Amino acid sequence: MDWGMKNRLSQIIKPETGHTVMLAVDHGYFLGPTSKLEDAQKTIEPLLPYADALMLTRGILRSSVDPESAVPVVLRVSGGTSIIGKDLSNEEITTSMEEAVRLNAAAVALSIFVGTDYERQTLVNLSSLVDRGMEYGIPVLAVTAVGKELGKRDVRFLSLSCRIAAELGASFVKTYYCDEFEKVVEGCPVPVVIAGGPKLETELDALKLANDAIQKGATGVDMGRNIWQSKFPVPMIKSVRAVVHEKASPEEALEIFKKSKSET
Ligand code: 5RP
Repeated sequence: MDWGMKNRLSQIIKPETGHTVMLAVDHGYFLGPTSKLEDAQKTIEPLLPYADALMLTRGILRSSVDPESAVPVVLRVSGGTSIIGKDLSNEEITTSMEEAVRLNAAAVALSIFVGTDYERQTLVNLSSLVDRGMEYGIPVLAVTAVGKELGKRDVRFLSLSCRIAAELGASFVKTYYCDEFEKVVEGCPVPVVIAGGPKLETELDALKLANDAIQKGATGVDMGRNIWQSKFPVPMIKSVRAVVHEKASPEEALEIFKKSKSET
């Protein structure tokens, strides 16, 4: 791997542990003002010291993040659809590689929609983005989206999507946790991080999800709603870090959550 590419990836995936806690705040690119992200700056700022990377669009980066922040940016560069539009899968590349360079991105992220009418378009876009990223030493994170028409989050579908993303040159892949998740990781030659998905009922549920993923080979999490939709986001991200970086059990991490909560 080229020096620049390797250096950027190691800003995100911490060499000390080989893991990462990415904070996803890109939801508005198709969902609009998602609950608790209406004022993105207010949500993001207290969490920044605990995030290994921040995944977001250029709009929220410029409007809501202090440029003096040292947190590496994973810039979402795909979009063009909305939750009320005709087809969520019909995404294109929305932000150029030059813009990613201007914004000092450590990586760029694009969703692929395997199994949809836009499978070919999104996969070819991934390949083009990888080519552009290679020119600048910028790694690409492929997000294996599950469009609302798909609804599949099983091991066969996610293994297929992750493997295709890696074959097309993604440097790392973001997907969902599923039963037999270890097979997804085994079949994917690049690091895999998981999304948290919609807010789970309890903090312990989210910590168990992160723990199961790490135990089965995930490199980390790229978590959003289960952190910033918690009533206590900072204690929550601290406890997720304990699971991901310190191999804390979900129960041990919950104690960290409770302790931190009592100090707020
Ligand atoms: C959507 C995304 C989101 O960033 C992703 O879903 C992560 O957030 P959450 O943990 O809330 O699911 O990439 O395509």
